[in-house]
Amino acid sequence: MAKNLVIYYSRRGQNYVGGSVRELERGNAEQLAEFIRDACGADLFEIETVKPYSEDYMKCTEEAKAELAVNARPKLKAYLADISEYDNIFICGPCWWGTYPMAVYSQLERLNFRGKRVLPVMTHEGSGFGSAERDLRKACPGASFARGLAVQGGMVPGARDQVEKWVKRNLK
Ligand SMILES: Cc1cc2nc3c(=O)[nH]c(=O)nc-3n(C[C@H](O)[C@H](O)[C@H](O)COP(=O)(O)O)c2cc1C
Repeated sequence: MAKNLVIYYSRRGQNYVGGSVRELERGNAEQLAEFIRDACGADLFEIETVKPYSEDYMKCTEEAKAELAVNARPKLKAYLADISEYDNIFICGPCWWGTYPMAVYSQLERLNFRGKRVLPVMTHEGSGFGSAERDLRKACPGASFARGLAVQGGMVPGARDQVEKWVKRNLK
């Protein structure tokens, strides 16, 4: 049987949802990661940076913008070393300035994706994937790619069925 993994990054607390800043008890991408796990029995790996971003939403957007400008690779609390046992790897995270947070690339660039199937998942406030699907192809050489699933943050709590259908259609 195929083995599945979700690598995700998600921001709790202040975030932009449905056109205004709201306090999230649980991150949007975090919830999608759990829907994916429930749909196919995937393992979860959460990406966490050593240096936290500001709790203030606007300040966080400025910090993230500065990281994108220099193509930063922020240090992570823990790194996944090996994905050789997995067949399907979901990459799940929010759209930050048109791509995944730089911390996602800090992790992906350390892994060997040759022969793996990558399934892109993104939460957003209108941008969809931006350039994230293209950026993933560069970060995961040798993988094959499913057409990704983008969900607007405010729609996430009601997206369990949509996620399950997409997962079942796209697993290797
Ligand atoms: C630093 C930062 C940058 C963002 N940039 C974008 C963007 O470029 N386009 C967009 O649609 N949403 C953007 N957003 C909104 C998030 O993608 C959206 O709130 C998402 O649902 C958050 O998911 P999460 O709770 O899993 O982090 C940004 C949010 C943050 C914090």
